[in-house]
Amino acid sequence: MRLLSVLLLLLLFWSVEPRKGDRRRDRGRSVRPRGKGRANTVKRQTPDCKEYTEAGEKFLDCQDRQLTGVQQHWPDDIDHLLLGRNKIQVLRDNTFSRFKNLISLDLQQNQISRLEEGAFSGLTRLTILLLQHNNIKIASEEHLLPLPRLQHLRLYDNPWDCGCRLESLVRTLQLPRNRNLGNYAKCSWPVNLRGQKLRTVRAEEVCPDVRPPIQRPQNGQDTLPRPTPTKKHPDVNALCHTYMFPKPMLDCRGKELKNIPSDLPSDIVKMDLSSNSITHLRPKEFVASRDLKLLNLSSNSLGQIATAAFAGLLYLQELDLSNNSLHYFPYGVLEDLYFLRKLNLGENPWICDYNIHYLIYWLKHHPGVSYSGLVCKQPQEFRGWLVENYVKTYNGECPKDKERQPGRDDTGLDQNETDAEMGTPQELVAQVEEEVFLPRPLRDRRPKKYDVIRLS
Ligand SMILES: *[C@@H]1O[C@H](CO)[C@@H](O)[C@H](O)[C@H]1NC(C)=O
Ligand SMILES: *[C@@H]1O[C@H](CO)[C@@H](O)[C@H](O)[C@H]1NC(C)=O
Ligand SMILES: *[C@@H]1O[C@H](CO)[C@@H](O)[C@H](O)[C@H]1NC(C)=O
Repeated sequence: MRLLSVLLLLLLFWSVEPRKGDRRRDRGRSVRPRGKGRANTVKRQTPDCKEYTEAGEKFLDCQDRQLTGVQQHWPDDIDHLLLGRNKIQVLRDNTFSRFKNLISLDLQQNQISRLEEGAFSGLTRLTILLLQHNNIKIASEEHLLPLPRLQHLRLYDNPWDCGCRLESLVRTLQLPRNRNLGNYAKCSWPVNLRGQKLRTVRAEEVCPDVRPPIQRPQNGQDTLPRPTPTKKHPDVNALCHTYMFPKPMLDCRGKELKNIPSDLPSDIVKMDLSSNSITHLRPKEFVASRDLKLLNLSSNSLGQIATAAFAGLLYLQELDLSNNSLHYFPYGVLEDLYFLRKLNLGENPWICDYNIHYLIYWLKHHPGVSYSGLVCKQPQEFRGWLVENYVKTYNGECPKDKERQPGRDDTGLDQNETDAEMGTPQELVAQVEEEVFLPRPLRDRRPKKYDVIRLS
């Protein structure tokens, strides 16, 4: 009898004692602060995350843990980070930048209300970002710029504030190639747009055409932006020459223009705006000049190009942007140029970091476009390199970039997405496809109403 109870005790002890050694390969390895023993961590307020490997990819599962942020001791080399159902409120710049391998990031069902501009910096491999069921009102194109590989973005069930600050995000989501980004997200404000989808709401309604003044106010007077677009642009017809022969052409070379004139003639085929002092291209600058085939913006001071700057230039064949101050092209800026053949990019201080990837990506997918002058100016280590070669070495470092295995076991639509919520059939297909592409632990993640706790 005594022997039996000793044996039982031993057995009990043996089963409670954590087995080391073989844990590493198993699902469910706990991650706890280095140097702390189990005794110290049992009573910690936030239970440890689970780390496991599935299909050769590392998951860190930190769901349901009352977390308010990323913890120092988490390993850097994970592929998937699951942070759903926590208490995160703000995502600060570079929150995730040390997780360089991250492919998916699940932040759903937190209390996120603020995203700093660099919140997702460094996530150059991220393809899936889940932000649904949060409290986000504002986000912009800038948030997505560090994510050149993003394919799936969920934004629904957030109280989107569809005003001017959201405009760049709305425009980005509406680009044809971004069909899996932001499905079902809806405006909560203003009242007249409430319920409209970010993917289909008209950007002009989100931000009625109040162009921000580009020129600085003179001698400190008048420091507030004027609310109405009554700025006087120079009169193109007085300033520039328009030739009708041999082809309709506008010659505005060297006229000290600081902006693109607003009264551009509509029937022009060639437009020469070279050798001026234009610094910005705003959305839809050329939308009236739909016949344009050649646009010359060479030798200006262009530093910024808005995503929709070339909207409407369906027939443009040649674009000369040489001798400007461009560092990179914002994500999406070339999507409107269906018939482009030639792109002159020389004499610009191109910066070879992740922002330049969009341009190379686009060029790779448009082999009919010949381009020239794409050479890194910064950083020092890549100075003089062809940008293309820089991107090649960059990608060479990460050869593992395979497609996900599609699963079959669920359609995984969110509980909240009732039939009434569903959009067009096309959207629905996109949604289902998207679900199939998600790694299994990210699929079918429904808001939990209650937990079943088995007591045994
Ligand atoms: C654009 O203008 C510059 C300066 O006037 C000129 O040298 C260049 O050849 C023009 N580009 C095209 C494509 O016509
Ligand atoms: C480049 O532009 C600057 C003015 O922005 C001008 O002075 C210079 O001559 C241009 N260079 C070439 C090669 O056109
Ligand atoms: C989503 O579901 C939750 C819980 O079922 C509910 O409280 C919330 O109102 C729903 N949101 C939408 C947009 O339907």
